[in-house]
Order: sequence, then structure tokens, then C-alpha cells
Amino acid sequence: MTRTSGSRVILVSALFTLLVEITPATKYKDVVFIHGILGGPYEADDFTQWLEKSHPGTKLTAINDYDALSSLWPMDAQVSGFEAKVKTLLSNPKGVHLICFSQGGLVCRGLLSKFPHNVDTFISLSSPQAGQYGDTSYLRYLFPQYVKKTIYKFFYSAEGQKWSVGNYWNDPHHQDLYLKYSAYLAILNNQTYNNNSQEYRTNFLHLKNLVLIGGPNDGVITPWQSSHFGFYDENEKIVEMRNQEWYKSDSFGLKTLDQRGSIHTYSVPGVAHINWHTNYTVFQNNILPWLT
Ligand SMILES: *[C@@H]1O[C@H](CO)[C@@H](O)[C@H](O)[C@H]1NC(C)=O
Ligand SMILES: *[C@@H]1O[C@H](CO)[C@@H](O)[C@H](O)[C@H]1NC(C)=O
Ligand SMILES: *[C@@H]1O[C@H](CO)[C@@H](O)[C@H](O)[C@H]1NC(C)=O
Repeated sequence: MTRTSGSRVILVSALFTLLVEITPATKYKDVVFIHGILGGPYEADDFTQWLEKSHPGTKLTAINDYDALSSLWPMDAQVSGFEAKVKTLLSNPKGVHLICFSQGGLVCRGLLSKFPHNVDTFISLSSPQAGQYGDTSYLRYLFPQYVKKTIYKFFYSAEGQKWSVGNYWNDPHHQDLYLKYSAYLAILNNQTYNNNSQEYRTNFLHLKNLVLIGGPNDGVITPWQSSHFGFYDENEKIVEMRNQEWYKSDSFGLKTLDQRGSIHTYSVPGVAHINWHTNYTVFQNNILPWLT
């Protein structure tokens, strides 16, 4: 090799390094999206378009798994399935943001608890984080023979726990049965003994920010305050996050996150459940500022 071609190689590689460094793609962290019940990765279509305009080059991956009717599979199975697809993405050494819609927000809590990820900000977009207790069109469609007052008889059984909704159904009038049967939410909260609770808590605390978005016109998440970790007591009065037992005992890290100033709560009126992921104002005001 002559001296000339040697220095040309150096020059070319220096130029290449310069190009890589000024490519905007390296500026923002990647984003991963997990869809809601009966949904699919298409729920991220608007976000993908808007993100491309606001933060060109950002990579958003909407995970294609357990969509449509498969979203009714047990939550544990879904978490294991999604884990296989996202573990590498969520362990990105540069950090990564996670947006999860509706039931997907509970899938994501499972993921964030199960392994030592490198998620910077977890955006929980109208997710029933403290459980669900409401008559909705989903419930009428799936279980027409039941209403919210009676469906505990089915959900709180071995059969009922084969359905995702059963896994986080939280009937305030049958808490003994909830604790006995809930094979997902009660365990995630360490309300039912979870042998891995310390590890779950440590992993969850790798989060830098927890963004909770929800609102009073949601119409599906019931009570809507569940999107902010609030829930009904036995008189169907709302007990807010900070007065929940699992918050006070810090059994999965929520209190520590809060005291660290890491929890950011948005109460957004005027948004129906199916519109959270298609509403530009919500994206602009409550989501985009976190996707740095
Ligand atoms: C809990 O985990 C420990 C250590 O991993 C194990 O020795 C023990 O048997 C487990 N207990 C139960 C009830 O699963
Ligand atoms: C989970 O609950 C058990 C008692 O039921 C307790 O010993 C354990 O410390 C709790 N885990 C966490 C992380 O608080
Ligand atoms: C979009 O969100 C704004 C609040 O950011 C709300 O006022 C408006 O009603 C929403 N529109 C739809 C169609 O959801």
C-alpha cells in the first residue's frame, strides 16, 4: 500500500465518522410502542408520522404480537411473548422510551419488572394500572351474559383467569376473591405474595420517568383514575395513588419513584378511550416533550 492510498483511507474514515455524528438519527432515543386490548401495532401509526416530522430519524418500533383477539390471552403469557420481542430493544445502552396504550400499559409494567431494562421514560397512555371495574362495550361484547356486579363469579375462577381482563379485574366488593385469584395484577403489586418482588421492584426502579396519562371522558377505563393508580374503595369512592396500601408499603417501587420526582401525571379532559393514540394535541402536549 502506498502512502497516498493510506492517507486516503484515513480521510475517508474521518469523513464517515463526521457524517455519522451529524446524522439526526443519533439525537433522540428509540421508542417502543405496545398496543391495547383488541388492538395492534397500527395504533402507533399517527405517532410514527408525527414523530418523523418533529424528531426526524427517531426509530419507533410498534411491536406486533398478541394483537386483536390474541390480546385476550393471559397477561403472563403475553408478557413472556412480548419479552422475547422487546428485551434487546429495551436494553438499548443509549436508553429507550416505552409508550404503552390501555391494557398494554399493564403488559409493560410486567416487562419493566421482569428484567433489568434500560428504559428512560415509560408513558402509560390510559392504562388501568390499578385494575378495572366497569361496564364497557368490550365487556358486553365478550361476556354478554354478565355485568360488572356479577362477572367476578367468572373472572375470579381458574377459568376466568385464562382471560387477560380477568387478570386485572378489581372488584372493590370482592377483594378477598381478587386476592385469591388475580394471577397478574395482585402479584405485580405484591398484594399476593410474589417471591420475586424485590427483583421486580429493583428492575422497575431503573425507570427515570413514569408518565401517567388519563382523563375523565375516557369512557372505558373505570374508574378513569386507575390510569393514575387511583381506585375505588368498597364504597366506590376514589382512593388516590398515595393512599393505596401498595403505594405506602412501596411494594413495587411506586413511592420511591414518586419521592424521586419521577412520576408525571396528566389529567386530560375531552378524550374518549379510542382516541388517545390519534389525538394530535395529546401527542404534542403530553407525549412528545418526553421523547428526547
Ligand atoms: C423463593 O425463592 C427462593 C430463592 O430463589 C427459593 O429458594 C424459594 O423456594 C422460593 N419460595 C417459593 C415459595 O417459591
Ligand atoms: C412483598 O410482600 C411480602 C409480604 O407479603 C414482604 O415480605 C416483601 O418484603 C414484599 N416485597 C416488597 C418489594 O416490598
Ligand atoms: C384531543 O385532545 C384535547 C385535549 O388535549 C381534547 O380537548 C379534544 O377534545 C381531543 N379531541 C379528540 C377528538 O379526542
